[in-house]
Amino acid sequence: MHILVNTGGGDAPGLNAVIRAVTLSALRRGWKVTGIKRGYHGLIGGDSDGLIELTRDKVRGIAHLGGTILGTVNKGHPFEFLVTRDGKTVTTDISDEVVRRFHEVGGDALIAIGGDGAFRIASRFAKKGLPVVGVPKTIDNDLSCTQATFGFDTAVTVATEAIDRLHTTAESHERIMVVELMGRYAGWIALHAGVAGNAHVILMPEIPYDIEKVVAHIQTRYASRRRYCMVVVAEGAKPLHGDISTIGTELGREVRLGGIAEKIGNYLGDRTGFESRSLVLGHLQRGGSPTHRDRLLALRFGAAAVRMVEQGKFGNIVAYHPPRMVPVPIEEAIAVMKEVPLDSDTVMTARDLGICLGD
Ligand code: F6P
Repeated sequence: MHILVNTGGGDAPGLNAVIRAVTLSALRRGWKVTGIKRGYHGLIGGDSDGLIELTRDKVRGIAHLGGTILGTVNKGHPFEFLVTRDGKTVTTDISDEVVRRFHEVGGDALIAIGGDGAFRIASRFAKKGLPVVGVPKTIDNDLSCTQATFGFDTAVTVATEAIDRLHTTAESHERIMVVELMGRYAGWIALHAGVAGNAHVILMPEIPYDIEKVVAHIQTRYASRRRYCMVVVAEGAKPLHGDISTIGTELGREVRLGGIAEKIGNYLGDRTGFESRSLVLGHLQRGGSPTHRDRLLALRFGAAAVRMVEQGKFGNIVAYHPPRMVPVPIEEAIAVMKEVPLDSDTVMTARDLGICLGD
């Protein structure tokens, strides 16, 4: 058995732990493992370093490291590959070339580690006959097929520590501090880090916000001598009668979200007369070592993926349904996004603590 493995989409702490577990589990069975660099690019680019044999040595001491030793890309996937023709960048379908190369290098199974975007690609490859097993990865926690994905716990941990730090400076200056967190169209990171970090306001995509409710909440705080306010906003939060804030679009990649903290910070400052500052925590939430929880989860995902290959359960992703890892068809895995349920215990806790959710 020869397993090919790749990592696609935005990186998440824990990717290297999956790669290590896949490699060691496969080697123990007497199999061979090859890593494809930069998503699928390493398979088709013709680069000398596009494919790397994963040996025990290659995966030694990497489980605790952030990022991915294989590299990753989140634009120009094989069905919409970016090429330049007559000075213009256009997209083209090179998926057949990927399939051809997969067989040419003697691949028997592909373990694709990624999020919803990577699974959409994997699903199309499965339809073309590639024996694929997916491993779910995302800091956003927005995959409904699995109870958890690695990377989320680390992102929440980093964000919570940042909010803790912002409290002291916000309070010293009696400022409104608005911090923007990642999560795309789901508010998991903002909600969890906001509640854990004692935010006073949390805005997230699942609850379109009325900015005047936020203004009133801040005015009440200041009037009762709690003269500062910590506002946590998910990058995908949107106003009641408005749109998500975006930075721009680029050919072959998803729209980039961002800019909401600055907009809200400026508005709240002008409207209340209190000084405000805003910041974007950004990629700090994705970088660095995974927490022990993410590390363990990632190792479990990797080992389970190899067991699924052994059992011939292709066309599935490994899903965490505690206490087990189970196969879920890729199609099912990408069907519905996991949003924060409005009746969830964490949302109710936020309300019980008096945190303003903008509604
Ligand atoms: O999906 C993970 C994620 O970090 C999102 O939370 C964020 O919107 C996006 O990726 C950022 O992508 P990029 O690294 O391309 O800016």
